[in-house]
Amino acid sequence: MTLPTPEEVRRVACVGAGVIGGGWVAHFLARGYDVTAWDPAPDAEAKLRRLVDAAWPALTQLGLAEGASRDRLTVTPTLELAVAEAQFVQESAPEKLDLKRDLLARLDAATPAGVVIASSTSGYPMTDMQTTAADPSRLVVGHPFNPPYLIPLVEVVGGEHTEEAAVSWASRFYEVAGKSVITMDREVPGFIANRLQEALWREALHMVANGEATVRDIDASITEGPGLRWAVMGPMLTFALAGGEGGMAHMLDHFGPSLKAPWTRLEAPELDRELYDAVVSGCDVAADGRTIAELVAERDRGVIDVLRATGRLGGKAEPR
Ligand SMILES: NC(=O)c1ccc[n+]([C@@H]2O[C@H](COP(=O)([O-])OP(=O)(O)OC[C@H]3O[C@@H](n4cnc5c(N)ncnc54)[C@H](O)[C@@H]3O)[C@@H](O)[C@H]2O)c1
Repeated sequence: MTLPTPEEVRRVACVGAGVIGGGWVAHFLARGYDVTAWDPAPDAEAKLRRLVDAAWPALTQLGLAEGASRDRLTVTPTLELAVAEAQFVQESAPEKLDLKRDLLARLDAATPAGVVIASSTSGYPMTDMQTTAADPSRLVVGHPFNPPYLIPLVEVVGGEHTEEAAVSWASRFYEVAGKSVITMDREVPGFIANRLQEALWREALHMVANGEATVRDIDASITEGPGLRWAVMGPMLTFALAGGEGGMAHMLDHFGPSLKAPWTRLEAPELDRELYDAVVSGCDVAADGRTIAELVAERDRGVIDVLRATGRLGGKAEPR
């Protein structure tokens, strides 16, 4: 079999069809792919089809690709049949290291040579999962967010024995398949977004454990506060705007000393010259030529859009 380019892929296999695997199936079907799926649970097919049916109205609202159809889904009785003709494989089995190792080795043995196999793992480095596969060079992490058919982000990273070409092929494939991709050049447990989520989650748990805030307060503090901004601009550029016309440099001069204050249980790194410069110049790159005034206007428009869309401007929410 000749290996397809990311643009030529027509047939995708999803192995493990629970919340995430089923979400991937729904996404790939909506983008017009033929999808084969395998999951060892006895009721897996019925559950998967229910998940896809439940997601379909949202996917239809988002816009289906030409030819997209739920009829393009085939649930196979064996893993081997699911991947036999696959041009890309997405593994979404339970988050257990031994299970992932064995499964990836089995997938590697059954999938046509050279075809990229991605794991949805939430945090295992591929280096730890690719230990028993005969050809680890094509194994990558493709970490999605729930539900994969709605949240665009996929974090892509290889392991020690992954070929660079497999990482770039996977990144390009996900882009073609309609995802927003971050390609990481090194393995970090939890990747990027989960590390950030986890920091917030652990602090929230500390606050509940210490009686410092209720669950309801914690949720409201995000949905009525920074969460509104984060829907339209990331935490770095958002903080740059807290520095007014002086941007991130002023923000760091102003609030840098607070990094020593006990505002969180997570210890801050030393804000030395190198880190200061990396953050300021990183914001310049992220701003991509937009002035502070333009970024403020963009943020404000975005927050108003979110407030309106969620029915919090006194008027009605947009029709759903
Ligand atoms: N739930 C999330 O929010 C989330 C987000 C991102 C990534 N992930 C990752 O996605 C993967 C799947 O998580 P989930 O939340 O969908 O779990 P889940 O429990 O909903 O689904 C797991 C599925 O795998 C099946 N399964 C069990 N053994 C298997 C095997 N040997 N081979 C293939 N399939 C097998 C189960 O029958 C089940 O249907 C995990 O690696 C998880 O860390 C989860």
